Amino acid sequence: MNRPRNLITLVNLLLFYAEVSAFTGCQKSILTVRHVASCPKDEVSWKAAAIKMNCDSITQNCAMSLGLSTPNHRFQYHCLVNSDKNATVEVCALNRFIFGFCAEFDINAAVVQENYDADCKTHNPPCPEFYDSAEAYKCKKSYF
Ligand SMILES: *[C@@H]1O[C@H](CO)[C@@H](O)[C@H](O)[C@H]1NC(C)=O
Repeated sequence: MNRPRNLITLVNLLLFYAEVSAFTGCQKSILTVRHVASCPKDEVSWKAAAIKMNCDSITQNCAMSLGLSTPNHRFQYHCLVNSDKNATVEVCALNRFIFGFCAEFDINAAVVQENYDADCKTHNPPCPEFYDSAEAYKCKKSYF
């Protein structure tokens, strides 16, 4: 008998599923998609573009309805390659934590996801092994 441990496992499992369900996408994101020729190349210009796009002003309940209205998951500016890798888009989307790859935006699923064609480790300089997609300028191959 190890009740406390089982309870912790259950809570972790529920948190895990809450996290995964966030990645079913946010349809409101699709309305914000703008095709751009390129993305901001550094932190300063990325942040300036984020202020201009003002994702905070857009009413959405994605984070809330997914139980993710925490400081870690907010509807915010991204500039990413699309999942067909033939366009770059600015979009307000729920951020995610990305492991080992660059990021992309899947316009159909309305979700930020790993770009499995862009492995961080093969880049020079390499991008972080772990980063917030809302700071995807840290991984230059997240766009062109
Ligand atoms: C990108 O590729 C997809 C799939 O091949 C195609 O349907 C779409 O029209 C292309 N978009 C652009 C902007 O070229």
